[in-house]
Amino acid sequence: MKIAVLGTGGGARCHIAKLLELGHEVVVGTRDPRATLSRTEPDMMGTPPFGRFLAEHPAADLRTFGDAAAASDGLVISGIDGHSAVNALSAIADRLAGKTLIDYAVPFIYQHEPEHPWPTPWGIMPKLEPVDTDSLGEQIQRALPRTKVVKSFVTQEQSTVVNPASVGDGEHTMFVAGDHMDAKQQAIDLLKSYGWTDILDLGQLVCARGMEMYAHMHSAIGFGLGQQFGGHFGIKVVR
Ligand SMILES: NC(=O)c1ccc[n+]([C@@H]2O[C@H](COP(=O)([O-])OP(=O)(O)OC[C@H]3O[C@@H](n4cnc5c(N)ncnc54)[C@H](OP(=O)(O)O)[C@@H]3O)[C@@H](O)[C@H]2O)c1
Repeated sequence: MKIAVLGTGGGARCHIAKLLELGHEVVVGTRDPRATLSRTEPDMMGTPPFGRFLAEHPAADLRTFGDAAAASDGLVISGIDGHSAVNALSAIADRLAGKTLIDYAVPFIYQHEPEHPWPTPWGIMPKLEPVDTDSLGEQIQRALPRTKVVKSFVTQEQSTVVNPASVGDGEHTMFVAGDHMDAKQQAIDLLKSYGWTDILDLGQLVCARGMEMYAHMHSAIGFGLGQQFGGHFGIKVVR
């Protein structure tokens, strides 16, 4: 398949590399390919410039977000920063029409001054917005009524999403939620190809609220395990 991955961050790179390994054609989206390739410094998370990754994965085809989305056969993975995703995806709504979009972003706001901050090893914990009564997944679906949005992948680091066997021999649970059964099935098929065996369909896209709000617990578990950035663990729903 020809799959579009919108995003050049650490998470997107995990999907790009895995999809290539699985034999897919991968079109990668970025705001401005020339600007992305001209970067020479790591980002704030220490992720090396994308040009270096591309040199190691020359089969990946770097285009603008819109051109990448339009080039896909029908499946698009969005790894656009959560706070920017609705605007960035709305701007290319026509090119996403009729496609399935899997969103794994967390709607984090990094710059804020809470009354009761949560100190972390890397600053204060970002806040979620929206939260409780809405989710980023639902915002994206409302902004893109001609696109079938699925929320998934968000409860883990993407390095473990694309390689579930690297944690507990793959004995952990991945979630999907969405309002379109056929799109959810595409996400489930992709996850199976990544090696997932325990995929729990949470139901309608409104359940994206729970997946996104789990982000703080994901961080807390990582701290508890002494893993300050990211985290190499999964969660298992025992039933
Ligand atoms: N990394 C993980 O394992 C992981 C796990 C769970 C959830 N998440 C969530 O998934 C999302 C993506 O994470 P990530 O680590 O893959 O990448 P990221 O570094 O959070 O985001 C990078 C992408 O966002 C785009 N972007 C940044 N600011 C933008 C703006 N103002 N307008 C349009 N696009 C903008 C960048 O575009 P350019 O390419 O043009 O620079 C880049 O493609 C985040 O919300 C993150 O919290 C990540």
